[in-house]
Amino acid sequence: MDRIRQISATEDFVKQRISGYDSGHDWWHIERVRKLARYINEKEILVDPFTLDIAVLLHDTADSKFNKDNQENGYRILEEFMQSAGLDMLRDQVINAIKNVSFSNKKSHGDKSDPLLMVLQDADRLDAIGAIGIARAFNYGGFRNNPIYVPADLAGTHTPSTIGHFYDKLLKLKELMNTTTGKRLAEERHVILEKFLAEFFSEWEFGI
Ligand code: ADP
Ligand code: NI
Repeated sequence: MDRIRQISATEDFVKQRISGYDSGHDWWHIERVRKLARYINEKEILVDPFTLDIAVLLHDTADSKFNKDNQENGYRILEEFMQSAGLDMLRDQVINAIKNVSFSNKKSHGDKSDPLLMVLQDADRLDAIGAIGIARAFNYGGFRNNPIYVPADLAGTHTPSTIGHFYDKLLKLKELMNTTTGKRLAEERHVILEKFLAEFFSEWEFGI
């Protein structure tokens, strides 16, 4: 298979694998992360663009949230796909990056200083902040039927809420960026989160 066909086979595999996910993890998320990853990589030239494209496309296909009891099964399906598409040369590097990309994944799965992981993780995190990040957070909260805001528990420590998720995760992402370009973009998007929260609390407290 040539590279163009490998990309198109990977796109088809991803669309099929993520079809049951919530709309914060749909094909549009993959497209946005793809653009962000390409942009960061063009600015900093850290990794081979083809490898990056494959890693971005596949990065959510074995997500533990959507392969509930059987995440290993998700990785097995991914490995089989990469084999069948002639991508076995990239398999270990791509799977290592995917295993490490998640914020919620605190377990160590190998090399965390890999430039592929650095770019992929920055791009994925950028899609969780800014206006898109706000939209995704409220969409996910609705999907889980979580409250918007629990005033007694701002950080959402005991009662999950979407505003709580801002303090638990979203406001921290700016400090966790790996690349210079990612950091610059994250700072811009962080301002959007802060403006949104200021307006949210002001409306919540209306007249007080
Ligand atoms: P990661 O891939 O880093 O593990 P997730 O898959 O947990 O991230 O999150 C995907 C999207 O869903 C992000 O936009 C994130 O902010 C949002 N999200 C995750 N958990 C929550 C939550 N408890 N409340 C609101 N949004 C959430
Ligand atoms: Ni993602």
